[in-house]
Amino acid sequence: MTKPPLYYIDSSFAVPRLTDGLKATYDLRPEPGPGIRAVATHGSTGIDAATMAKLPDLEMIAVSAVGVDKVDLAEAKRRGIHVTNTPDVLTDDVADLAIGLMIALYRNIPRDDALVRSGRWASEGMPTLSRRLTGQRIGILGLGRIGQAIAKRAAPFAGEIAYHSRHPVADVSWRYAESAMVLAASVDILIVATPGGPATDKLVDATVIDALGPNGSLINIARGSVVDEDALVAALVEGRLGGAGLDVFAHEPHVPAALLPLPNVVLLPHQGSATVETRDAMAQLVLDNLAAFFAGQPLLTPL
Ligand code: GLV
Ligand code: GLV
Repeated sequence: MTKPPLYYIDSSFAVPRLTDGLKATYDLRPEPGPGIRAVATHGSTGIDAATMAKLPDLEMIAVSAVGVDKVDLAEAKRRGIHVTNTPDVLTDDVADLAIGLMIALYRNIPRDDALVRSGRWASEGMPTLSRRLTGQRIGILGLGRIGQAIAKRAAPFAGEIAYHSRHPVADVSWRYAESAMVLAASVDILIVATPGGPATDKLVDATVIDALGPNGSLINIARGSVVDEDALVAALVEGRLGGAGLDVFAHEPHVPAALLPLPNVVLLPHQGSATVETRDAMAQLVLDNLAAFFAGQPLLTPL
């Protein structure tokens, strides 16, 4: 049986389960072109309208990510192209990392790890004291699957959990705040867990950051686009915001140089879903969605 052609965008990500799985079943094409009915792509690469235009027979886009903000969804919709993502399988890992960033930030784990490694413990003695995380009020911006998983993890040690999303979520007991600003003004830690895209672009702006204030911290495991990065950097540099734990940035892999010397930030290279277990599960979901498409069966996780 001949293998159907498939355009695998940005194979440089090289999750072996995905790359090997795709190779086994499809005739992987390095370039877009006619005759290709499906593409596989990664969340941070997506696919734009110009690339879709070179794929006249495109019917299906399989994205290896929960966030599809790098896919031109309007163009996909206009052409009736199906889009699938990989929700659920990564929820726990992203939520774990949000908690990890909070602990790392409050307890200065990266700073003190560097102290020990450099041999300065013996010469400089103990570092300055860190801050207690237990009892801090935690606000979650975006109470989707990931936001709820963070809230459940944080609830046992938080002073209070509050959230803002476009609408109050049914069946949760956490306090609802009417806006990002109101939420930020009433918590110690604001965790960004919304999808990216136009609807949330710079939702965390200078006003929200100032409402969080010099004793507040921002954690972002969602998308850099949700935060006004210039305003964030300025607030951190000027001491108007207490600290930040960031797994995502506005223009990855670029990280604002002004952040690098700051002791009150923890910076990660977009690792939320980057565990062996989750990346395998995401790969399998991409493969299963593609298999369903080519078999004419319902897609597993359509948008
Ligand atoms: C990762 O950022 C994802 O959207 O899955
Ligand atoms: C998506 O919005 C998610 O939280 O999984």
